[in-house]
Amino acid sequence: MRGEDCLADGNGLPDPSRADAGDGSGRSIGSHVLLIGFMGAGKSTVARRLARRYGKASFDTDAGISRMVGKSIPEIFSDEGEQTFRRYECEYLQYLKDMEPGIVSCGGGIVTYEGSRRALRELGFVVYLDVSVDEVYRRISSTESRPNLSDDRRRTEELYESRLPLYMECADLVVDTNGKSSSAVARELGNILVERGVIG
Ligand code: S3P
Repeated sequence: MRGEDCLADGNGLPDPSRADAGDGSGRSIGSHVLLIGFMGAGKSTVARRLARRYGKASFDTDAGISRMVGKSIPEIFSDEGEQTFRRYECEYLQYLKDMEPGIVSCGGGIVTYEGSRRALRELGFVVYLDVSVDEVYRRISSTESRPNLSDDRRRTEELYESRLPLYMECADLVVDTNGKSSSAVARELGNILVERGVIG
């Protein structure tokens, strides 16, 4: 784990070998496709669909961190605080540098941490899945499993607005997901990535 890239204080993620996917060989070939965007953008489902369609490894920062730490995301937030979670995200991205290239679903707030923005750029091709706040509330029925998604719409809009420039700063490509199913988004994005020679 390259904790120094995340300004960690040495108290980082335990045992990366317990993370999901990757062949564990330490190879570094090509680069990843990383999906960023607000909660409810469909990153996890689209990443899984794309990975299956193109025979790639699939990674999920939330699932990987949760497995490594041995706690759910809400538990990490309440026990250790959001800042520690952001550092875990950054450290997870460092871990991905040694994994076979795959499709990576990133937690919605990953771009708020400078070390993570740097790591995203280093890791590969970054796709921003755009979703409106209206659509977020249509897609997500319960805010329980997401500590940063409020029932208070104004707070969500503020969070959304504050993140928008950060998503745009990191993105190599923007895909509008509004009114589209995850399979339609995966198909559209897959075609663009093939066209651009990002995946084969
Ligand atoms: C968060 C988004 C979540 C998860 C955590 C914090 C955020 O991921 O990382 O609850 O701050 O936007 P999803 O975007 O996959 O819901």
